[in-house]
Amino acid sequence: MADIVHQQIVLGVTGGISAYKAADLVRELTQGGVEVQVVMTEAATGFVTPATFQALSGKPVYTDMWDGRVTNSMAHIELSRGKNAIVVAPASADFIAKLAHGLAGDLLSTLCIARECPLIVAPAMNRQMWDHPATRRNIEQLIRDGVAILGPASGDQACGEFGPGRMLEAQEIAEAITAFLAPKILRGVNVLLTAGPTFEPIDAVRGIANRSSGKMGYAIARAALDAGARVALVSGPVSLTAPAGAELTRVERAEEMFEAVKRKISHADIFIGVAAVADYRVDRPRRQKIKKTEKKQLQLKLVPNPDILAWVASRPRRPFCVGFAAETRNLDAYADEKRRRKRVQLMVANLAQEAVGSDNNEVMLLDDTGTRRLARAPKDVIARQLIAHIAKLYKGVSRKR
Ligand code: CTP
Repeated sequence: MADIVHQQIVLGVTGGISAYKAADLVRELTQGGVEVQVVMTEAATGFVTPATFQALSGKPVYTDMWDGRVTNSMAHIELSRGKNAIVVAPASADFIAKLAHGLAGDLLSTLCIARECPLIVAPAMNRQMWDHPATRRNIEQLIRDGVAILGPASGDQACGEFGPGRMLEAQEIAEAITAFLAPKILRGVNVLLTAGPTFEPIDAVRGIANRSSGKMGYAIARAALDAGARVALVSGPVSLTAPAGAELTRVERAEEMFEAVKRKISHADIFIGVAAVADYRVDRPRRQKIKKTEKKQLQLKLVPNPDILAWVASRPRRPFCVGFAAETRNLDAYADEKRRRKRVQLMVANLAQEAVGSDNNEVMLLDDTGTRRLARAPKDVIARQLIAHIAKLYKGVSRKR
């Protein structure tokens, strides 16, 4: 947390049971040297008193647009001026809806719309509220508006149900804010990234795919952008919104992904192969749908796909190369063997059965300096830690050039 000394944020607390976690968040942040100005909605004061936040932050807490303690009565503007970010944690479904529609009926929502700094939101709600199409739309809108969304996590809920919607733990949010506020360690660096699965057609309607969701790759793209990099993202078919600011190329087949990488590689300083690329494709996929016949067996002939990462890593003036190894067993040994065989500077290893499709991940970083484990955390938190590690290694390598 030492990196964020002298940072100042507004922490908005809205009404929800996880408002109690916001108290811990204030403690984590202030202990890390961040100055926290708490602003609460009226509903939030029904869960935790302003006095709690005042004691923890060492600053008066604001709830009212017309608070006389702000000398020019412009609390809705003044409180966020000069701040590095506004963080809303917990953000209720109601408050997220307000943000998505630009409503400004109370102090916190007005501060958000009148801000000059980034907005970070940590949703907290019942799983059905989280899954509701209206909330999904509102979250999509916020992502398009450049708002960073932290979580939510999945698990036991205050209402006794189980599922997605609970707020991330205070420590996870504090780490993500730390990373978000961190110096732009990849400013001006060009990052080329592959993400998602590939889809290899069998015929006009069928194909071979895999379970990769693209979440890890997209989270890394966002973390690299937050660190100041220019990001080109070559993505297989996923149902995710690309992070704002990334140059997105959508592909389906491994060969298309390879062509896109070839077109862009000369600009790349760092290449990160996160995609789960199919090792084989169907030889001569049929243009028409294959009809069922009396035959008991249907044989497909598979031919190897190009290894994109290995190709990039073997170029004469190659970028700094990062590979991913998804294994189902013998993680350390297989990942290290893959790192050496593909000649990449950094291999990120994870257990496929735990990572694929999940919002969380636990990874091991293997490079020339040794092995490091990143504890299980949301993929966006892992992504920021990974970018910090890549930046450190990349700077070491580029200094030697
Ligand atoms: N990769 C790639 N092109 C391929 C296959 C893999 O660029 N045709 C990249 C992936 O993006 C990942 C790394 O190589 O960064 C490891 O991929 P993986 O499939 O796990 O390794 P393989 O070499 O295919 O080994 P195996 O499938 O036998 O585990």
